Amino acid sequence: MELSQETEKYLNFISSHPVASLQEKQFSDIYQDLINILGQHNKLYYIDSTPIISDSQYDELFAYLKSAEEMFPHIIRSDSPTQRLTYQLQENFQQAEHIIPLLSLENSYNGDDLTAWDESIKRLYNKQKEQEPTSHEITYVCEPKYDGISIELIYKNGEYVQAITRGDGYIGEDITENVKTLLSVPFYLKDRSLSLRLRGEIVMTKKAFERVNKEREQNNEALFANPRNAASGSLRQLDTSVTAKRWLECYVYQVLEGRPDGMEKHEETLDFLKEQWFLVFPWRKHCSTIQTVISLCTDPHTKETFDKKEIDFDGIVIKVNNLSLREILGETNHHPRRAMAYKFPAKQVVTRLASVDWQVGRTGILTPTANLEPVLLGWVTISRASLHNAEFIKEKDIQLHDSVWIQRSGEVIPYVVAPVINARTGKEQEISIPEKCPVCQTPVVWSKTDIHIYCPNATCPAQIKGKIAYWVSRDAMNIDGIGDSIIEQLVDQKLVKNVADLYTLEEPQKRIQMMAMPLIGQRKFQLIADELRKSKNSALRRVINGLGIQHIGKKMAQIIVEAIANKGYSEKKDFGVEDLERLLTNDEFLRSIKGIGSETIISLEVWFSNEDNKQMLDALVKAGVNFSIFDLRRKNIEGKLSGKSFCITGTFEIPRKVIAEILTKHGAIVVDNLTQSTDFLIVGNDPSSKLDKAKEQQNTIIIEGLDKLETRYPFLTDDIQPMKLFAEQKEKKKKEMPKQQGLFG
Ligand code: IVH
Repeated sequence: MELSQETEKYLNFISSHPVASLQEKQFSDIYQDLINILGQHNKLYYIDSTPIISDSQYDELFAYLKSAEEMFPHIIRSDSPTQRLTYQLQENFQQAEHIIPLLSLENSYNGDDLTAWDESIKRLYNKQKEQEPTSHEITYVCEPKYDGISIELIYKNGEYVQAITRGDGYIGEDITENVKTLLSVPFYLKDRSLSLRLRGEIVMTKKAFERVNKEREQNNEALFANPRNAASGSLRQLDTSVTAKRWLECYVYQVLEGRPDGMEKHEETLDFLKEQWFLVFPWRKHCSTIQTVISLCTDPHTKETFDKKEIDFDGIVIKVNNLSLREILGETNHHPRRAMAYKFPAKQVVTRLASVDWQVGRTGILTPTANLEPVLLGWVTISRASLHNAEFIKEKDIQLHDSVWIQRSGEVIPYVVAPVINARTGKEQEISIPEKCPVCQTPVVWSKTDIHIYCPNATCPAQIKGKIAYWVSRDAMNIDGIGDSIIEQLVDQKLVKNVADLYTLEEPQKRIQMMAMPLIGQRKFQLIADELRKSKNSALRRVINGLGIQHIGKKMAQIIVEAIANKGYSEKKDFGVEDLERLLTNDEFLRSIKGIGSETIISLEVWFSNEDNKQMLDALVKAGVNFSIFDLRRKNIEGKLSGKSFCITGTFEIPRKVIAEILTKHGAIVVDNLTQSTDFLIVGNDPSSKLDKAKEQQNTIIIEGLDKLETRYPFLTDDIQPMKLFAEQKEKKKKEMPKQQGLFG
C-alpha cells in the first residue's frame, strides 16, 4: 500500500480506537506498521524535505504510539521513534577512540591558495604515474563547509551503535545517547548488512537558534553567541532530554570505513549516504578544473546564496572526486591532501575605539586590546578587539576615539584592521604606550624586532598565570577544570609558581588551602586532582607544546616528536627527559628537521640553558609526567592497588564516591556489585546486604571502616586524612550556622 493511503488508514484507526480501550493483540498487530510509517515520514521530513502529512498529523500518530507503548511496555521495540527520547541522565561523557583519525582540513583564502593546492596535487600524481602508469582525470567536487560540531557516527550490521565528538581527532567524547535524540540520524540503515563509520557535522538551524535563544531570554539564561555554540552546548548535555528539545540536525559527508566496493567517485558516496537515509545537503558542484572551483568560491553570489540557507556555512570544501586518487595523495601532518577548505572572507564592521587595555601574556609580551563601542559582527556583539602589538598602533596611527574597522575570521578573536582616517573629528588622542608592566610594575622593554613591548620579569604573576593556562589548554595537556579564575587564585595565593607545582596540589597542606577557596569544594578538588593525574600520561607532543617554549607550538612539537621517532628512538624503551634535552639542544639534530629554523633553535638553546626551566623539568619528571616517546594514554594506571578490586557499602566520614576515587587513583578497580571475584568489601555504618553476602564468600576480605583500610594500606592516609578533615570542618560550620528561618517565619 502507498504510504499516504496507509497513513490515512492508521489515522482513521486511531480516531476510532482510543488507546484506553486498545487490546494488546490489536496493538501488537499494528505496532510494526506504525513504526515504519513514522520512520518514513521522518525521512520525508528531515532527509528529503518533502513532508506529505502535516506536523499535527505526525504528532497525532506519534502520541498514539507513545501512549500505547506506555500501556504495553513489554512490547516496546528499540527502533520505535519514541526510543529516541530516552531521557537518559548520564554521569559524564566517556572518552572514545576514533579508530580512523578525524583529520582537519587545510584552509585556503583565495585563488592563489587553491591554484597552489591544485599544482601540488598534480605534481604528486605525476610522480606516482612515473612509478606506476595510471590515468585518472583530476576533477573536484565542491560542497558546503558546515559550521557545526564534527562527529563520527558508527553503524554495525545496519544499526546505529555510537556517536563520538571529534575531540583532538584521535580521542573524543561518547555522545551516543545525545545523538540518538536527533531525528535526522537513522536508527537503521536501509541496507541492514552494512557496517559503517561516517563523518558528519551537527548543526542548529537559524530558526531553531532564534527559538532557543528567545526561550533562554525569557528564562533569564545566558544567550548562545551563534548557532554553532548553541549546537555544541545542546549536544554536550548530560540530560539527553535537553538535547532532544533543541532541534539539532546531522549532515554526513564522508564514509570513513565500510564504503561498498565499486564506488569510484566522491559524488557517488554522497548519493549512497542519502540512499541509506542520511541527511546530505543538496548543494554540490562538480568542477572539472581548478579555475571553475576558484570562480565558484570567489563569486560573491555563492556566499550570498549560502547566507540565505537555513544553516550557517563558513566556506566551501573542495574534494578530489576520484576516490582512488585519494590514497595516492596521502596526508600531511594534520591534513589529507585530497581536500581543501576555502574560507569565506571575514566580515568587517566600523565602530568607535573607546580605550585600550594592555594584557600581559605568558611570554611577557604586552598585547593591546581595544575597548569598543559594542557592535554586531556576524552573530556576535563585539566590544573588545585585538590591536596586535605596540608597533601596529604606531604604524597604522590608530588613535583613541577613532572610528576603526573590525574584522573577525573563523573562531579567532576579532581584531582592529585600520582607522577610518577621513572620519576624524580632531578630538582623537594619541594612544600612550606603557612604560611599566601593568601587573608587576617592572619597566617594559622593546623586543629585538621592535614590534612588541614586554615585561622582562619571569616571575611576573601575569606570566605565570598565562603559562599555566597554556599548559592546561586543550592543545597542550588538555586538563579540564582549571579555568582562569582558579589559576588566578592558585597563583595569587602562591600555591603555584610554575606548571610543575600543579602536581603538588594534592599535598595535604595545599589541598586544604585549595578546598577553602571559593569555587573549589571537595568534588571540584577531586575532579582537578583526577584530571592532573590523567594528564601525566599525555603524549610527549602535548608535553613539549605545554612547556610554552617560544616558536614551539602544537605543530612544531608534533614535528619534533616525529623527528625523534624517525631517528629510531621509538625503539628506545627508556627514552626520557635527558634524551629529550640532549636532542633539543643538539644543533645537528635540529637542523636535520625540515621546518625548524634558526630562531627556533636559538629559542630552544635559551630555554634549556635557563636554570629555572631545568628545575621545573626535574619536578615534572618527579611528578610522573610522561617524557617517553610512547603514547601512554591508553595504558591503565599502575599503582600500589593495581589488580585489586573493592566494593564499598554503608556510610563513612567521607562520601563513598570520594573513597572510590582515592582507590582508583592507586590503580584499584571499584565495583558497584559484589561478586565472587571482589577482593575487598569496605564496610561503613548501616551496610547493605552486601555485608551478609561477603561473609558467605571465601574470597572477599571485609575491611571495617576507613581506619582499618588505612592500617592495611598506610599510603592511603595522605589521601584520606585531608578529606576527613574537610568533612569535619564542613560539619562544624553547618552546626554553627543559625537555623534557617522559613520564608514565613
Ligand atoms: S571533509 C578528511 N567536508 O570542517 C576530510 N569537512 O577542518 C574531512 N567540515 O573539522 C573533512 N563541512 O568537521 C569535510 N563538507 C565538509 C565539511 C567538513 C564541515 C568540518 C570538518 C573539519 C573542518 C575542517
